[in-house]
Amino acid sequence: MGLVYPLPSLKPSAGAKEIKLENCLGKTVLVVGGGGREHAIVDALSRSPQVGKIYCAPGNAGIGGQAFNVPLKDTDVEGLKAFALENDVDLTVVGPEAALAAGIVDAFREAGLKIFGHTRAAAAIESSKEFAKELMESAGIPTAAYRSFSDFDQALSYVLSRPFPAVLKYDGLAAGKGVVIAQDGAEARSALADMLLDHSFGEGRVVVEDYLTGPEFSFLCFVDGERVYPMPLSQDHKRAFDGDKGPNTGGMGAYTGLPFITDRECEFACREIMCKAASAMCARGLPLSGVLYGGLMKTPQGIKVIEFNARFGDPETEVVLPLLQSDIYTLFEGIATGTPVDAPVWSDGVTLGVVLASKGYPGHYEKGYDIGGLDRVDAKVYHMGTAARDGKVFTNGGRVLMVVSGGSSLEDARRKVYEEIGKIECENLFYRNDIAHIALEEYGKNH
Ligand code: AMP
Ligand code: GLY
Repeated sequence: MGLVYPLPSLKPSAGAKEIKLENCLGKTVLVVGGGGREHAIVDALSRSPQVGKIYCAPGNAGIGGQAFNVPLKDTDVEGLKAFALENDVDLTVVGPEAALAAGIVDAFREAGLKIFGHTRAAAAIESSKEFAKELMESAGIPTAAYRSFSDFDQALSYVLSRPFPAVLKYDGLAAGKGVVIAQDGAEARSALADMLLDHSFGEGRVVVEDYLTGPEFSFLCFVDGERVYPMPLSQDHKRAFDGDKGPNTGGMGAYTGLPFITDRECEFACREIMCKAASAMCARGLPLSGVLYGGLMKTPQGIKVIEFNARFGDPETEVVLPLLQSDIYTLFEGIATGTPVDAPVWSDGVTLGVVLASKGYPGHYEKGYDIGGLDRVDAKVYHMGTAARDGKVFTNGGRVLMVVSGGSSLEDARRKVYEEIGKIECENLFYRNDIAHIALEEYGKNH
């Protein structure tokens, strides 16, 4: 059965780990970013026998227990390049889309540095909704019908000619705030005015698309040009509170082992969506070289794309990468250099992770609260927004920690995660109690 669970616990310490002499002989890797996704990447790299030294910029308190944190921002391309050159970094792995959009891959490649991630131009599959929609339409990839506009009146009259709800998407990176589901004409008018008359997010166009229904899920694939290496499917929970209520967040929890997607549907999504997107990007002279993340929906008419991202998802990465049995350095390096690699091998267990966020998130929240009990947790604890001071760990972001456990079933993994969360002491954290509810309660009821 190849199960690797229960997972060993990470015992994050406040400072950088001591590097053993024999480790210095291995490869040196720089991970760019400082959230839970990057912690999971660092954790996976630290399992590679080829990797000696890991730097992470900027990292966080938990990452500092497994790598050397480097105080550079993820978008400081020149600073990161100078660091990689000075420190003989063999390979750089990029987490956040902001770094890709800042052109980190282009700059590193020009300097002859090996880097895992897409060029700025290829990252348009995420950064421009219009580019992505047009790509899907021309490649015959299933997605919601759409039109795009720069003119307010034309946009409004199109919206009013279609059924409600209407989906309005600002065409650019808008920190997750650029999508409005308008229930009626008044809401649509106000959102369009915000985007096209007041330019609240910038000068971009607006994509108007049909409203789709069905459960959403994430399909992450490693992509190297035409080569697509799928990862296990996962599902994020975007709303802040139980029952998918409350404001949208970066993601409050995730799990793998989705019972509502059949093998056939997964195979369809791989062939008709992910592979077609990879080919279409090659045909445009923009080959992908990193992670392609399909934000997909199982609609009554079949699997369709809601959006593409050009990076690992967060919190999906934290539940997907613990299942990887292959050496992630080999994969990253193969993709960074355009060299075919063996298909990655994945454990057939499932994983589930719950995010602990600062009270008030995604709105206003306070930082700097003491976090205790971490050394007693018998599960993976990925740090999303923490800082270390005087040997103690403090909250330092909206999403703070993610506790991840595996199991032979989702029930098992869920029970374990919530038990372990109970050991964490912090007065300013909250979390959802129903991660995987679609799989366990809703789907479970009907099957
Ligand atoms: P996006 O940034 O494109 O992923 O959109 C954010 C969220 O809006 C998605 O995760 C969906 O929940 C919702 N959404 C986006 N597009 C649609 C659509 N065409 N139909 C229904 N919901 C949508
Ligand atoms: N899990 C949502 C994202 O990474 O965009």
